[in-house]
Amino acid sequence: MNYNTILNDFSNGITTITINRPTKLNALNKATIFELHTAFKAAESDVDTKVIILTGSGEKAFVAGADISEFADFDGEEGRALSKEGQDLLFDVVENLSTPVIAAVNGFSLGGGLELAMSAHFRLASTNARMGLPEVSLGLIPGYGGTQRLTQLIGKGRAMELIMTASMIDAEKALAYGLVNYVVPQEELLPKCYALADKIKSNSSLAISAAIKAVNANYTDGMNGYDVEISEFGKCFETEDFEEGTTAFLEKRKSKFTGR
Ligand code: COA
Repeated sequence: MNYNTILNDFSNGITTITINRPTKLNALNKATIFELHTAFKAAESDVDTKVIILTGSGEKAFVAGADISEFADFDGEEGRALSKEGQDLLFDVVENLSTPVIAAVNGFSLGGGLELAMSAHFRLASTNARMGLPEVSLGLIPGYGGTQRLTQLIGKGRAMELIMTASMIDAEKALAYGLVNYVVPQEELLPKCYALADKIKSNSSLAISAAIKAVNANYTDGMNGYDVEISEFGKCFETEDFEEGTTAFLEKRKSKFTGR
């Protein structure tokens, strides 16, 4: 598939999706959201893709938010549709993807950009990254899950402050808040992501998908995470990966997982 607003690269079991509108600081317009949806779903159904890395093109921004020029004249109904379609098509899809998604936050990650990074399973940032949810400065609130995911990740008081003040935090503060797992110089960001992806790749992709489901269940209304864990744990015993993993351990050799 040919994309206009993103780049899609595959190498060595890892698909890297790069949002590619650098002159607009990679702002998310409708086309980008749709292309990201397509690329994530394609990567998820590609058996060779074990990990997905999401980043922004250029040195300045991961994503500077939803594209303000697209919704400046919207009414309430259009606003609700924008939020719902975005959540359904992209943000919830990324969070619940069965393939691990790492966000490489390489610069400004604001509004929808931070919301997208927070939908990923975990995040790394470069030292120049700046993160925030500035929507109230536009007379809005975050609409792509930001009020929920920021609160889950950094706690209610910090999320309230960040949202109410519309201010940006730097990478070090994001690290201290637990919003990102590592902060590294920009040139080391993708290499660090690839190193983590390589570690993930060596494990059972089936077990990893089950773990994503179980962890996410804790944040899903009406779901009991412990019950989901019991069920997913049981399913693992029925896989070839389980047989291979335990046999390899007992035979003192490295596992060769097939994802079956
Ligand atoms: N939507 C649409 N366009 C955006 C954008 C967004 N969220 N963020 C940046 N851009 C565009 C700018 O309009 C500008 O386009 P132009 O050159 O055609 O005028 C281009 O990207 C570069 O941005 P600019 O503002 O000139 O860069 P800067 O270095 O001065 O400032 C930011 C960087 C990130 C501080 C600033 O762009 C900004 O505040 N962006 C909006 C952030 C925001 O409110 N996001 C939440 C949206 S809900």
